[in-house]
Amino acid sequence: MKIGLLGHGVVGSGVRKIIDDQKTIEVQELVVKRILVKDDWEMTDERMTQNADDILNDPEIDIVAECMGGLEPAHTFVRKALEQGKHVVTSNKKMLATYCRELFAIANEHGVTVHYEAACGGGIPWMAALDRIRRVDDIMNFRGIFNGTTNYILERMYHEGKDFSEMLGEAQKLGYAERDPSDDIDGFDVKYKVMLSAVKANDVLLNLDDITTFGIRHILKKDLDYCRDNGYVCKLIGRGVRQEDSVSACVMPMFLKLDDMFASTPLNFNVIECEGATLGKAAFTGQGAGSLPTAHAVVQNIIDIWKNQDSEINPKLPAAVDNRDLMGVYYIRTKKSALFADITDRYVGEDTILTEKISLSEAALRIKNVDDPDLFIAEVAE
Ligand code: HSE
Repeated sequence: MKIGLLGHGVVGSGVRKIIDDQKTIEVQELVVKRILVKDDWEMTDERMTQNADDILNDPEIDIVAECMGGLEPAHTFVRKALEQGKHVVTSNKKMLATYCRELFAIANEHGVTVHYEAACGGGIPWMAALDRIRRVDDIMNFRGIFNGTTNYILERMYHEGKDFSEMLGEAQKLGYAERDPSDDIDGFDVKYKVMLSAVKANDVLLNLDDITTFGIRHILKKDLDYCRDNGYVCKLIGRGVRQEDSVSACVMPMFLKLDDMFASTPLNFNVIECEGATLGKAAFTGQGAGSLPTAHAVVQNIIDIWKNQDSEINPKLPAAVDNRDLMGVYYIRTKKSALFADITDRYVGEDTILTEKISLSEAALRIKNVDDPDLFIAEVAE
């Protein structure tokens, strides 16, 4: 199989390395023929090109692996590759979650596939697991620590009392963070992963803007002190729950009890759990970010295509997000805490309340109306 690689950054260089190293019989079947790079200094090998058409118009290239990140030009290149009858493997959750409806239709029309294991959960075979489980069970719910950057930041802040911005810088140096780290710390990266997980788990296409999303940008040392003093640990969690005609879906910090299996997930690791009717609960863990673990997932998908394993069996239909049945107790820190008086159970610190048990849709609406850009919210496990 001849592969055209779009992008030679953290993930793309890992894919090139794994394939060039030719370690297994399967990988020995693969050849990286051309590599699209952006800058002159990256032209280090005769396979490098700065012209995407050298890949997209090359009839010898069977599979395009897109590891560029960002919306454009990645989206245009992927669309062109599919239109040229090439299979696509992508690690780009933002691009795919935004355009999957269009790209799946084009792939279908041209008899090719889009594979995206690396877009969600890094090296963990989460998409592959969903494919298998879904063949037998409806998946009732899933939840996960889907973001290595924020897990790394939260872990080191919690255990070492480190500063938020210093830890974000470390995560960037280690190659965990997105090009725009706002996607990590504001929860958008997890939102894309929740959307793509729901595609696999429930055959639904959710509207990204409807997935309730809160990040950790405004977390303070005192929030983590509250966790430590009260037997909790803070993790950024993405969730999906299948309802009758809709899906509850959200991203938010959670104060988990220390005996929760997710509580001890270290550094850049992810852990994702789902529940099927006959399977019961199953959990998957591994490195959710970083060059080689993520590249491993890209190479696995290339081998899936070579072995003719197309996972997209069922049609994917639009479905609404509905968080009215997702009930919880929320920790809310805001200088406008008085505006939450009617749903406050008690104050646990200056300007910090625990709410009564309310629906996530109500909490989200209240927060929108309060309009405090520094507000921090976390759900507290019961
Ligand atoms: N920025 C992402 C993370 C990369 O930290 O998890 C892997 O998707």
